[in-house]
Amino acid sequence: MTHSLTLRRPDDWHLHLRDGAMLKGVLPETARHFARALIMPNLVPPVVTGAQAQAYRDRIMAALPTGSAFQPLMTLYLTEATDPADVAAAAASGLVKAVKLYPAGATTNSHSGVADFSKVQAVLEKMAEIGLPLCLHGEVTDPSVDIFDREAVFIDTILDPLRRRIPSLRVVMEHITTEEGVAYARSGGDNLAATITTHHLIINRNHILAGGIKPHYYCLPVAKREKHRLALRAAATSGEARFLLGTDSAPHVDALKEHACGCAGCFTATNTMPLLAHVFEEEAALHNLESFAALNGPAFYRLPVNEGHITLVKHEQPQSFPEKILTEAGPVTVFNPGFPVHWHVEA
Ligand code: NCD
Ligand code: ZN
Repeated sequence: MTHSLTLRRPDDWHLHLRDGAMLKGVLPETARHFARALIMPNLVPPVVTGAQAQAYRDRIMAALPTGSAFQPLMTLYLTEATDPADVAAAAASGLVKAVKLYPAGATTNSHSGVADFSKVQAVLEKMAEIGLPLCLHGEVTDPSVDIFDREAVFIDTILDPLRRRIPSLRVVMEHITTEEGVAYARSGGDNLAATITTHHLIINRNHILAGGIKPHYYCLPVAKREKHRLALRAAATSGEARFLLGTDSAPHVDALKEHACGCAGCFTATNTMPLLAHVFEEEAALHNLESFAALNGPAFYRLPVNEGHITLVKHEQPQSFPEKILTEAGPVTVFNPGFPVHWHVEA
């Protein structure tokens, strides 16, 4: 039995930090274990231009705990009015590492997203030319499509045609939740990757809906049936280079989660690494945790791997983690896996 595991310091390739008091409250949770994170741009208003990304990055740096070496990697929010030259300049300066595409209306703060894909063809062609990845929220928004089918329909009707139109575009399928997503990610070459969240390795839709509704398990894309969770676990723990950790840790204050129209998002920044160790151990794949959390991401994003390390230790006794993070914006509930976790990050 393994009791201790040292790996390169991990990165989170899909993270929501928000702004203001919430940013200040949640940033230390990620900076404690992670060296870098790709910061999602769905603020209100969204981070659309290079100048806005620079200003947001400055606010994140100002909110960091003293002495932290954490580095935010910035993204731009793609709109139908995005200027290809601005994207290219923000990438050339090293500020921006990806562009995020939300289909208009797909999720939290996505109303400025893309409705007519022909309007973003020029910017996508520019990104293909300069090798800048497109991160896709892969759900259709057509209200006639069942919410549990929206990812699979997106792959067939939007993602695959898009990749045929611009085959050299580098694409990340964000937070895949289905076996169709896993299969499509595997069908691509070196210019296709997929992020997988911590919580989608742990919960299926029963966890949200059976025995009373659990708002803290509600996120988008919504967790699917068990066979999909199993496909995601097999993918994440496989060691295959195309699968990257992207926690999609998405804080909302409890008042907005425990609400008649509750916000989507699970907050996993605090306990992701112990939870992943638990999952990877269950799958007899602890040897692949470093690939998933610390090696595959930098390889896809063409960045160096981190020099630092963290050590996970498995204890006899279940380890505790805070039930809530108390931010000045209000309390944020930490994702509770519903089982005891014996792993703990020691350094
Ligand atoms: C995210 C958020 O709250 O910003 N919510 C979520 O459920 N994942 C948006 C997103 O990534 O879809
Ligand atoms: Zn997200």
